[in-house]
Amino acid sequence: MDKAMFDLARAAMAKAHAPYSNFHVGAVMKGANGRLYGGCNVENAAYPEGCCAETSAIAAMVMDGEAKIAEVLVMGAGEGLVTPCGGCRQRIREFAADDVPIHICSPDELRRTVTLGELLPLSFGPENLG
Ligand code: THU
Repeated sequence: MDKAMFDLARAAMAKAHAPYSNFHVGAVMKGANGRLYGGCNVENAAYPEGCCAETSAIAAMVMDGEAKIAEVLVMGAGEGLVTPCGGCRQRIREFAADDVPIHICSPDELRRTVTLGELLPLSFGPENLG
C-alpha cells in the first residue's frame, strides 16, 4: 500500500454522505493499470438504498474502463476493523483474484492486510460460469 492510496482513501472518507449511521467510510481500488479509484459510502433516507464506499470505488473504476483490481484499501474509524461487508466482498470478487491484498485502515494507519481469498473463501466468480 502506498501513500497515494492512503491519502485518496482519507479524502474519499471525508466526502461520505452518511447522515444516518454517521459512519464514514472511504475505499480505494487500484486497477491493474496502476490508477487509483476512490469511493465513499452514500446513504439514503430510504435506508436499504444506500451504498458502500467499495461499491462507489468499483463504479468509478469500471467507468474508467478498468476491469481488474490489483489492490484494495478500506478506511473507517472505530474500534473494530472496517472490513468489506459480505456484498462488497462479492463485488470485489467480480474484478479480483484470491490473492489480491485488502488493506484495512483507520484514518491514521494501516491496521491489517488480508487477501480476498481469506475474506471470501471458496468463492463463486466469473470463471465459474465458463
Ligand atoms: N460501509 C461501507 O461503506 N463499507 C464497509 O466496508 C462497511 C460499511 C458503510 C455502509 C453504511 O453506510 C455505513 O458504513 C454503516 O454500515
